[in-house]
Formats: sequence, C-alpha cells, structure tokens
Amino acid sequence: MAGDAEWQAVDAFIADRLLGSDPALEAALESNAAAGLPPIDVSPAYGRFLTLIARIRGARRVLEVGTLGGYSTICFARAVGVGGQVVTLEIDPHHADVAATNLREAGVADRVDIRLGAALESLEAMRAGGETPFDLVFIDADKRNNPHYLRLALDLSRPGTVVICDNVVRGGGVLDAGSDDLDIQGTRMLYDVAGSDRRLTATAMQTVGLKGWDGFLLALVEDAA
Ligand code: SAH
Ligand code: DHB
Ligand code: MG
Repeated sequence: MAGDAEWQAVDAFIADRLLGSDPALEAALESNAAAGLPPIDVSPAYGRFLTLIARIRGARRVLEVGTLGGYSTICFARAVGVGGQVVTLEIDPHHADVAATNLREAGVADRVDIRLGAALESLEAMRAGGETPFDLVFIDADKRNNPHYLRLALDLSRPGTVVICDNVVRGGGVLDAGSDDLDIQGTRMLYDVAGSDRRLTATAMQTVGLKGWDGFLLALVEDAA
C-alpha cells in the first residue's frame, strides 16, 4: 500500500526530472520559513501545473484568493508575462509583506497587485467597481468561504475563464457529511455550487505527493446558455 513516504519520493523524482532548479521559488520558500509562515504553499510540481494551465489558457489576467508568501503568485506572474496582471487577495498583513518581498526578489512585482483585506470584501468591492473579468481564478484561502468565493469569482469571469480551487479532498475529509469543521462544510458546498451552476463545467482531481492526499477542482465558465 503506497503511503506518504512513497508519494514524497515520487514528487522528488518528478521535480528532479521535470522541474529543474528554480532559485526564485526556492528563495521564496526559505523566506517564508524564516518569516514563520506555515508551509502550505502549493508543491513545486503543482506550481508548474498552475503556470502551464495559465499559459495554455493564454491568461493575461489572473485572480488569486489567498496569497501566503506568494509562491503560487510567482507561478502565475510568470505565466501572464510582461504586461499581464495578477491580483492576489490576502487577509494577513505579515503574509502580504513577505509576499511583496518574495515577488520583488523574483522580479515579478510589477505585474502583481496584492490587495490586503478579507477576500469576501475585496471581491465584493471588485464586483461593485466593475473590475475587468479575469482569465483564470485560483481559490486557495479559508475553505469555509469557498462557495462564496466561487460565486463571486463567477461574477468576475466571462465565458472561457478557468477556475481552480485548491484543497478539495483534504485526506478524504470531504466525505464527512456530518463534520462540524466549517472548512469541510465549505468544501462540500463548493461541490454543490460547481455541480449545479449551469455556467460551469467542473471536475475534481485527487492528488498525492509532498502535501499528502488532497486535490483540486477545475472548472470552465461556459458561454451563456
Ligand atoms: N496560494 C498560496 C497559499 C495560500 S495559503 C500558495 O500556494 O503559495 C492560504 C492564505 O489565505 C493564507 O495566507 C491566509 O492568511 C489567507 N486567508 C485566509 N483567510 C482569508 C480571507 N478571509 N481573506 C483573504 N485571505 C485569507
Ligand atoms: C491548508 C491550507 C491550504 O491552502 C493548503 O494548501 C494546505 C493546508 C490549511 O489551512 O491547513
Ligand atoms: Mg492550498
């Protein structure tokens, strides 16, 4: 029976064969650790996946909910390229400070806009302010708000927008219908929204690796019916 040690070994193999050395991302992880941030960034292989999906989509504008130290933000900033834009939402000023430094060090600060505050409020303000729609939305903050984040993301989308939501399996915790954990309940409700909103075609993929057993939800915003 394969377990965490083997999943980590395979992630190391994948990184060795496919990812190459990445001083900017490695420096960001060191800076996060030195600043006491929790090590809950996406894994290196997942970060490359995010860069590739954004490039495949041809994304020029990316919205991220949950910045932490900006590891995934750097992955998107690279994908949007010069002239592209990443808007990333973060509630914790310390995380936002560390991210600002990491983004500067990675040479992508010019294309990233870190908005400090509760993401629900930032998203509402963006909707009210008529923010230009995004090409890709990555939702990776407090899981209890995931159904709200997905609904608000839809308001900031247009047909063709790609939505990715992290941590939707949680070691199988998503199956626990009676859970009193609000993050599990929020994750379960995310599936209800994604599965029932006619504007979305969605799937979820389970993942194993450095970060254990988890998964992501992937959705495409369809043309108006
Ligand atoms: N996307 C990052 C990891 C994000 S971790 C990466 O892969 O590198 C989740 C982040 O969401 C944390 O920094 C946390 O402070 C932030 N967060 C939690 N609740 C939030 C809220 N209500 N609004 C905005 N950000 C929030
Ligand atoms: C947690 C949050 C994440 O976004 C993640 O990828 C892993 C763990 C957490 O809050 O525990
Ligand atoms: Mg996450």
